Amino acid sequence: MKPTYILGLNTFHADSGAALLRDGELVAAVTEERLNRVKHFAGFPELAIKDVLDIAGISIEDVDHIGINKDNKANLLAKLTFAVTNLSRITKMARQRLEYRVKAQQAPELICRAFGLEPDSLRARIHNVEHHLCHAASCFLVSEFDQAAIFSVDGFGDFASTMTAVGRGTDIEVLDRTLFPHSLGIVYTMICQFIGYDRYGDEGKVMGLAPYGHPRFEDFFDRLVQLKPNGRFELDLDYFMHHREGVDYSFDERGYPMVAPLFSTAMVRKFGPARLRHGELTERDKDLAASLQKGLEKAYFHVLNHLHEETHFDALCLAGGVALNSVANGQIFAKTPFRRIYAQPAASDDGTAVGVAYYIHNCLLGQPRGFVMDHAYTGREFSDEAIRSALEEVEGVVAEPVVDGELYRRTASAIAAGEIVGWFQGKMEWGPRALGNRSILAHPGLPQMKDLLNSRIKHREWFRPFAPSILLERVGDYFEETHPSPFMMLVYKTRREARERLCAINHVDDTGRLQTVSRRQNPRYYALIEEFERQTGLPVVLNTSFNENEPIVCRPQEALMCFLRTRMDLLVLGNWLVRRAASNTAARPGVIERSVAHA
Ligand SMILES: [Fe+2]
Repeated sequence: MKPTYILGLNTFHADSGAALLRDGELVAAVTEERLNRVKHFAGFPELAIKDVLDIAGISIEDVDHIGINKDNKANLLAKLTFAVTNLSRITKMARQRLEYRVKAQQAPELICRAFGLEPDSLRARIHNVEHHLCHAASCFLVSEFDQAAIFSVDGFGDFASTMTAVGRGTDIEVLDRTLFPHSLGIVYTMICQFIGYDRYGDEGKVMGLAPYGHPRFEDFFDRLVQLKPNGRFELDLDYFMHHREGVDYSFDERGYPMVAPLFSTAMVRKFGPARLRHGELTERDKDLAASLQKGLEKAYFHVLNHLHEETHFDALCLAGGVALNSVANGQIFAKTPFRRIYAQPAASDDGTAVGVAYYIHNCLLGQPRGFVMDHAYTGREFSDEAIRSALEEVEGVVAEPVVDGELYRRTASAIAAGEIVGWFQGKMEWGPRALGNRSILAHPGLPQMKDLLNSRIKHREWFRPFAPSILLERVGDYFEETHPSPFMMLVYKTRREARERLCAINHVDDTGRLQTVSRRQNPRYYALIEEFERQTGLPVVLNTSFNENEPIVCRPQEALMCFLRTRMDLLVLGNWLVRRAASNTAARPGVIERSVAHA
């Protein structure tokens, strides 16, 4: 019997992308930015659609259902009520909504155009699903839980900023929504903008900055985000612009999303001028970051504790851009009664491509659940042949093929010796984190390693921590919590006795945003860390994404370019150990020395 194919799309949202199911199994999920190399690309994911179809070996005509992560009819009554009560302000917002609505409806037409089909000739049925239901589906329906509480939390999607729900089997029952203009995502982004971190996705930087400040503006945040009965909250809108002007997402000529300023002059009157992007970072800015993080956590746990009171489940599923706040997530066990967590690895809008596909499969088509997304390796992989030809195309490197055991031994000993290693293996990750297949690895216990990585490769802000990957079985020896964290979605306290030995990944507040690695999820990465433990006694490596101010590398060619452009010591491409040729030790451009050894 012909399999059923469902294509899930995140279109015209940041991190646009595509996911493909074959009879309920996730065959592939890819974000457009990895293919078109525009970070957070927010346009139509044409390359991602073609890539997932190609990975599955099918054509667009084989697809039975297409899901889009937006439903213009969702929360319609709330939209109309807001429009009627804010008649004088809605012109600009109405224009924004209309533009967005038109874009969201263009997807079928754009698919036809991309594949050279006549307009309206798609065989697949099109489904529009409410944005937060897609987030909710993206965590619950692919979790191992039969029953769980669900929390979806972001800036806005379909006029809502949070959704709480109960998941039972293939059913998602919505308990509550927070509607426009109240939003925890908007609060976080507004303060990020005010302190000069105004690029899309800068929220993670500010989360890293927070522990350098003191939360002396806590009272202000208590007024800014007012906690209400029944797990609800409301914003003091005086400090915001979005309820007057809308959330004006625009896209530059490359498709990079930009958010118009969200803070009002009341913020300036209260705190003085906003910091400009490259301005001096003052104590005020650090203290605002610290107070923001604390304010977010109060509201987060307020919602979650009420959700637990309503559901009494010990399992919680998380998604939405705010759910990338791994510092808040890591405290859930201490601050709420929840005991088990599943967070979608692509918690931001990229994850809704997976979510909408599973919503169609389980909730609309009534198919039983059977798939657990227990790893995030859903992208393309490259054969040894493809790696070999990429090597043959570049100049100035020496490459040597080695068998697995030797690969792990020599890579681990390079890391142990303080070298910085590019590690490119198997299928590309889904979501914002490198999880051991497109990673840069280093020794987690060398005091100078953070500065070295920043000066030689990453060039990141001084306050941003690097993250550890640790063997799952050893977590309790190094961190104060032991719940698995396979997708780097949880930050735990580092155990006191381990802090010095993990000094390169231990943040200023003695925490780490860890990735737990199991042999089943990633046998090659596990084997490497196991070998590193054999050599050094540490079952932990420092893991940062394989990129330099660009989307994470996808193809071997991009890994090689990043290796040559930066001052990485060693590149491991599949089973190839790659170093700069002797005459190219300074990575000088134009030096030609091709020496690809053949197996
Ligand atoms: Fe979202």
